[in-house]
Amino acid sequence: MKEAIVYPGSFDPITKGHVDIIKRAAGLTDKLIIGVLNNSAKKCWFTPEERKAMIEQSLGEEVKNVEVKIFNGLLVDFMAENNVKVILRGLRTISDYEYELQLAIGNSTLSRKTVETVFIPASQEYAHLSSSMVREVAINNGLLDMFVSSEIIPQIQHRVAQFKD
Ligand code: PNS
Repeated sequence: MKEAIVYPGSFDPITKGHVDIIKRAAGLTDKLIIGVLNNSAKKCWFTPEERKAMIEQSLGEEVKNVEVKIFNGLLVDFMAENNVKVILRGLRTISDYEYELQLAIGNSTLSRKTVETVFIPASQEYAHLSSSMVREVAINNGLLDMFVSSEIIPQIQHRVAQFKD
């Protein structure tokens, strides 16, 4: 049995960069849990349930050992509830590293060093990509098919239309 892994994030919305990391990580473990943060302090375009559904739609039937769960509060508590000791984060640029290092050290400290963070580098074609970029392109009616799975484009466009109502 290989170590289970938790891949946490906001996923507002899930991008092709996230999908790439998920598929690569799913090959390294028997069980990958995607943790969708339900964060009332952060203003998200999509509810946690919508973000969960969009992740499932983006992944389709291809990846079998992945489960998507919504969590509240501290990531280390979600890790303990699921009995998982490995956090996965994607790294795009050097500027990601500072924030990721803070998170990794914070989570290690909070868990009394029982939780470890591992990083997978973003594939080159997605190193520029972020959920905030997707939202900016969407609100300006730009092309989304390079950035997100085609399955979720209608939902993003629908949300933009609601904003413009
Ligand atoms: O996709 P994001 O927004 O970069 O993901 C950030 C996330 C969800 C991984 C991070 O904000 C998180 O784990 N939040 C839960 C609260 C928590 O545990 N914070 C870390 C304290 S060291």
